[in-house]
Amino acid sequence: MKNIYIIANWKMQLNLKESIDLFNNIKQKFSHSEDVETVICPSYISLPDINRCKGGSKIRLGAQDVFWEDVGAYTGEISCEMLKDVGCNYTIIGHSDRRKYFKESDEMAHYKLRTVLKNSLVPIVCVGETFQERQEGKKEYAVISQITKAMSGIDLLGTEEIIVAYEPIWVIGSGRAINAEEAEYMHQVIKQALIDIFPVDITEKCFRIIYGGSINQTNIKTFLVQPNIKGVLVGGASLNPDEFLGIVSEAKREKCY
Ligand code: 13P
Repeated sequence: MKNIYIIANWKMQLNLKESIDLFNNIKQKFSHSEDVETVICPSYISLPDINRCKGGSKIRLGAQDVFWEDVGAYTGEISCEMLKDVGCNYTIIGHSDRRKYFKESDEMAHYKLRTVLKNSLVPIVCVGETFQERQEGKKEYAVISQITKAMSGIDLLGTEEIIVAYEPIWVIGSGRAINAEEAEYMHQVIKQALIDIFPVDITEKCFRIIYGGSINQTNIKTFLVQPNIKGVLVGGASLNPDEFLGIVSEAKREKCY
């Protein structure tokens, strides 16, 4: 696995032309570092064109979601194989947008995780508490429960790569990230939840935990100096090429060891 992951989630914000233009803009000024993996998750429909534009660039591609079956009569769904066909190495699973608007459950995240690992894609499993859960003193319970339900029963050999993205739901799109020390604490909670399921050495080898929620090129530094925060999942700021490249540059500067 890499030291640091910078992952852009473009959500449903751009049409095809805008997606290609943004990708080309980022690609032109992008400079790769072995320590920092840069992943872009555009819309499904722009993936084939972006994959063609990518050429030899070290920017990686991911999808925003995937279905858990390999093939069949599942109208509207996209399989792992289809994602690999268009150059994806990564896919997001269980994003809070999908949990909120499409009633996606932890059980669905579990099925997706199984299939994604079987198909050798890297899953980016999203967890995070609502504002109400936080107010009620249940933030730890919420993320431990999401992790346990998604991960239990998965057998790992130690060669798999799994990214867990901690995204406090109430912070997403707010323009105000949580305090980095608070995020570090929640990363420790997630790490412990993983160690309660998998052996410690497997957890160290296979998992990276990253933060998402109103990250920009100014606040990213405070997150990456935290010992357990191994990258960021970026929404709004990833739609501005200079801002996103600024985030990638900060990552290279802060944590290339
Ligand atoms: P923002 O960076 O816009 O808060 O979005 C975070 C997110 O949901 C990424 O998946």
